[in-house]
Amino acid sequence: MIERMFHIMTFGCQMNANDSDWLRRSLFSRGFTEAEKPEDASVFILNTCSVREKPEQKVYSLLGRIQNMTQGREDVLVAVGGCVAQQVGRGFFNRFRQVRLVFGTDGLASAPQALDRLTEETQLRMSLLDFSDEYPEKEQDWTDGEVPAAGFVNIMQGCDNFCAYCIVPYTRGRQKSRSTAAILEECRAMAARGTRDITLLGQNVNSFGQDAHGDGTSFAELLHSVADTEGLLRLRFVTSHPKDIADEVIEAFGSRTNICPRLHLPMQSGSDEVLRRMGRKYDMARYRSIVDKLRAARPDLQLTTDIIVGFPGETEDDFQQTLAAAREIGFAQSFSFNYSDRPGTKAEMLADKVSKEVMQDRLQRYQDWQSEYTEQVLQSMVGKTVDVLFEGMSRRQTGQMVPETPDSPKGTAGTADAGDMREAAGQQAPAGGETWQGRDVYGQLVHVRLPEGMNMQGKCMSVRICEAKKHSLTGEGVGDPW
Ligand code: 5AD
Ligand code: SF4
Repeated sequence: MIERMFHIMTFGCQMNANDSDWLRRSLFSRGFTEAEKPEDASVFILNTCSVREKPEQKVYSLLGRIQNMTQGREDVLVAVGGCVAQQVGRGFFNRFRQVRLVFGTDGLASAPQALDRLTEETQLRMSLLDFSDEYPEKEQDWTDGEVPAAGFVNIMQGCDNFCAYCIVPYTRGRQKSRSTAAILEECRAMAARGTRDITLLGQNVNSFGQDAHGDGTSFAELLHSVADTEGLLRLRFVTSHPKDIADEVIEAFGSRTNICPRLHLPMQSGSDEVLRRMGRKYDMARYRSIVDKLRAARPDLQLTTDIIVGFPGETEDDFQQTLAAAREIGFAQSFSFNYSDRPGTKAEMLADKVSKEVMQDRLQRYQDWQSEYTEQVLQSMVGKTVDVLFEGMSRRQTGQMVPETPDSPKGTAGTADAGDMREAAGQQAPAGGETWQGRDVYGQLVHVRLPEGMNMQGKCMSVRICEAKKHSLTGEGVGDPW
């Protein structure tokens, strides 16, 4: 029997983060506990990502580190899940004796039962790698604990787009929409527990319902139904593919006040030629017309984006078009990446690969522009009064270590977290006061000093912004919480 104390390491996108949160809750409900320090754990779970870089190497080196850390211990069980597990599969069993479970994205739903069994049957190994036909509905067991102010709800799995550079359709499989009834029930239950900000998650949320598993509900219809959830203050969704965003969704930004005025709309490149070779199925004229319609519907809208530099064949002129489009549109934040060859994708086979040096130089120029622009956006908030939804105390005071972001992809501009945390750590609690952190409607992190003993978790307050830092804002509360 292996002790049921686990440690989870998560890499990659918000989907993975959400999957890990679900796994954590499900394990709690089965009597597992989470180790305070990794070395105390007996069950290690790696939730992996393969969208860029050399993710396999990263996973192997982590597995090596776990092996070293637990040397001489027989009571250790390692599980590898997520996109790398889907690709490498049972190959992990040959290289690492401690790995006794591999699970893919559709296998996650059964991972808790598998872990349960593996802690008892210590000679057993299991793999959960099959793609299921239907959206793999997961049990929703909540143990009593802190209710997060902001939460995530999965609405679909997989992707059918096969953008030339992307591995996701291979690792997460074809698109499978979740049933509207299950989504609405999860949102209702979350809001009833006290979650006030919900983000709907999917690889391409705008094509929700348009697959063999859809129940006829369009994304715009789903959005309106979720927006009606009692007690729901803020609604967001990621990720939107520009080719699929319907006019009805754009209109919803204008008509539903609880849909937050911020949209992530990956542009990838500002050059029509590169977009064509990427297989994105829109050109810049279409992208710009969507932006115009969105801003007409919601003048206070902020846009964020994903950018790939150095896609095969990208010229300096193509890159200049990306930079010019980003400046013109004025993205509040970008996640920008060097192109990375992924095995089995169409782009891997393309000629004219851009050299590392050229790629890095372009990325740097893009990120320099973005950092400066993001600072301006934050600076423009100073003096304004905004509604902040509080998520917890600033980290320094809760005694938490300031974590390294394990998954901050190299070459990412505007990944707020690493900077946010450093800034949070730098916040000094004044004598007799406490610093709380929350987010405004745009999702910007705001730190506020408040009198000691106010429990602001999950509460809102009007805050006058006094100062903008590189990645966050500081303000003072005005009026009463609600
Ligand atoms: N190389 C670089 N960036 C990539 N992305 C996806 N695949 C690759 C790749 N092969 C980026 C895209 C996508 C984001 C999630 O990751 O910008 O929108
Ligand atoms: Fe990848 Fe394109 Fe699907 Fe996004 S839409 S997950 S980039 S294939």
